[in-house]
Amino acid sequence: MSQIKSPNTVWQVVQVSRADRERLNGHRGRILWFTGLSGSGKSTLIHAVEKRLHEAQMRTYALDGDNVRHGLCKDLGFSNQDRVENIRRIGEMAKLMLDAGLVVLCGFISPFQADRQKVRDLVAPGDFLEIYCQCPLEICEQRDVKGLYRKARQGLIPEFTGISSPYEPPESCELRLNTGSDSVESCVAQVMGVLESIRS
Ligand code: ADX
Repeated sequence: MSQIKSPNTVWQVVQVSRADRERLNGHRGRILWFTGLSGSGKSTLIHAVEKRLHEAQMRTYALDGDNVRHGLCKDLGFSNQDRVENIRRIGEMAKLMLDAGLVVLCGFISPFQADRQKVRDLVAPGDFLEIYCQCPLEICEQRDVKGLYRKARQGLIPEFTGISSPYEPPESCELRLNTGSDSVESCVAQVMGVLESIRS
């Protein structure tokens, strides 16, 4: 869906800019994009980091795979095509939130490198920080917090990432977390480290 289907529309000039909003907030906006297998810790981390940022008086919003699939993306499943559309919509939404001056924490499997790159390309260099939650499949499967891996192994969930659907790890990213071995506190501290320069 790259073509615009509503050509008779005119882009409107705004009177309050992102820079104005960022000045009001006292910090810059950013998209923190957490990618990794189901059960790799993305959700835990986006909420833990958001709590820390909120306590530091920063404006944030966390977008979580399971939650977004209950609303904006409830018409999408897990075929490759639907995952592409899922990430496209979320990317556009994150871009709007970035324009609102927020630190946007996105936790999505986002299994395809090309789709993550497309989101990166939507915004200016430095606005999109890709964080790879690296956790061996065996550990995600052992944890099986939602019981989905067991069901996927039983053939009850088709196209399950890591089992019957691919995951392409980032070739280069701003931060790689060893979520299979490092503690939540340590991972949160590492994420806070890449955000140091956004306070004005
Ligand atoms: S993505 O691939 O399109 O980025 P997304 O992050 O939105 O996926 O949703 C992943 C979540 O949906 C998983 O954490 C898991 O709870 C649930 N889920 C249900 N079915 C699947 C499936 N077939 N593959 C992966 N995750 C699934």
